[in-house]
Amino acid sequence: MDTHYNTFKTGVEELDRLIGKALQPGSFIVVAGHPGAGKTTLASSICYANMLENKKCLYVSFQEDKEKLYRNLLSVSINFKEMEEKGLLRFLKLPLPAHDEAVEKFLDKMMELIVKNDPKVVVIDSITPLLNTVRDNIKARALLQNFFAEIPKEIKGLVVLIAEIPMMEEKIMIGDIEFVADAILILKHRVERNLLVRELEIRKIRGVPINLAKVPIAIIEGKGLVMHAPPVLEEIPSRPKKLYEFPCSKLRDLFRGIRKGDVVYISYPSDNRMATLWLLIVGIILINNIKTVMISYKRSSEELKENMCEYLKNICTYEKKIEELIKDKIKFYSINPAGVSMGIGSLWELSIIEKNNPDMVIFHSVDLPARIFNEKEYLTSLINQILLLKKKGVIIVRIGSKDEKYDLHASLADLVVRIDTVIKNNKPTPIIYAWKVGKEPIILDKEDIEYCIQEILHGINKIIEEKTKNK
Ligand SMILES: Nc1ncnc2c1ncn2[C@@H]1O[C@H](COP(=O)(O)OP(=O)(O)OP(=O)(O)O)[C@@H](O)[C@H]1O
Ligand SMILES: [Mg+2]
Repeated sequence: MDTHYNTFKTGVEELDRLIGKALQPGSFIVVAGHPGAGKTTLASSICYANMLENKKCLYVSFQEDKEKLYRNLLSVSINFKEMEEKGLLRFLKLPLPAHDEAVEKFLDKMMELIVKNDPKVVVIDSITPLLNTVRDNIKARALLQNFFAEIPKEIKGLVVLIAEIPMMEEKIMIGDIEFVADAILILKHRVERNLLVRELEIRKIRGVPINLAKVPIAIIEGKGLVMHAPPVLEEIPSRPKKLYEFPCSKLRDLFRGIRKGDVVYISYPSDNRMATLWLLIVGIILINNIKTVMISYKRSSEELKENMCEYLKNICTYEKKIEELIKDKIKFYSINPAGVSMGIGSLWELSIIEKNNPDMVIFHSVDLPARIFNEKEYLTSLINQILLLKKKGVIIVRIGSKDEKYDLHASLADLVVRIDTVIKNNKPTPIIYAWKVGKEPIILDKEDIEYCIQEILHGINKIIEEKTKNK
């Protein structure tokens, strides 16, 4: 029997993966958070995802204006009006009981409405003002708490209770409800480097071990709530043995090639960012026919593509063809590390990688994010990203100026290529230091590099000739 058949959805794929198992019929979850943290959006998303599977939803609100809510939700692709027209949604705006004595009557009426509508999902947005009406009346408070715990059993469905956390405070303050809840999700937002950062904290999920407790989220126009929860791998994954050959004999003889899932770190002096590097990279890509995504933290995707094409067109025999090949094999993207929070940045990177399904990802100017983000958080996120890509067998190339973070980048790599400039006969002369895990490091001097360039150019020309011949 499919055990997932009866579980409920949240409308956020990653969240389903994390807490889905806890959302069985007869359970209730608490969604708590500061004002504007996204409680209504998440609860509505839960409603909507289940209505799309023909499960009826009852949305009880004490504050929200129906028209305004529907309009706001439409901007995040949640269409409540349509669901209402289909008879799947009932939105109720109830007046709060005027005083604590009126609570009992109020609850009777609410239960009556719930039974009458026979929903599978009930949202109460929010229980905080209700609890506040009975702040000092212990009996009425107990009544309320029992009531909320009863609804899931009554409807044999899912209840979502929204709770407000006042600004500057951390506690949920919903008393015993916290103990009976099957899951507690806390939405938070804060300002980091002048950017709004949203997070979801998973405090409790009954019956499911939690190993990821805090996840970056975003509310995106037209898309809704999205979450960055890369599957955190507890073990270091093994990877396919396939090797891609170096397009240059000296490197090939010594190191053979790059293996799927390898991390390659290439550094250069910040004041001599050699364009020759593009030739080595494009050579590997074209000669091995590697589908590549390039993400730059410094240049716009257009500029990067143009730079690369211009340089290669100048040195390659088949100018037009090389440009076509680059555009065909490499997809260019750029991201401003100073304009996004780290969580959202890596969420975005992952979505690009998933969309393109490349064999290789090149991160350009990795020195920038390494210096901007908090070191520990950056390293944690980086290691998780690397492991995830390794598992997929994606080659990870990270290139950037050599700076004080060199050791950090190099220590994560399987192959380190360091481009340096030395002064010889009063002239800046490039040398390359290269090291591969399990091998002795080597040095390529100016002559080696020039020979390598000729070999790559020859290799690229051969490919183009063959391609033209086959046409
Ligand atoms: N279309 C949209 N695009 C981007 N962000 C949006 C969009 N619609 C809403 N938001 C963001 O969602 C936040 C509000 O979410 P929501 O109303 O779910 O929060 P809440 O926690 O229920 O707030 P409250 O405490 O006021 O009830 C807003 O702060 C807004 O920044
Ligand atoms: Mg709200």
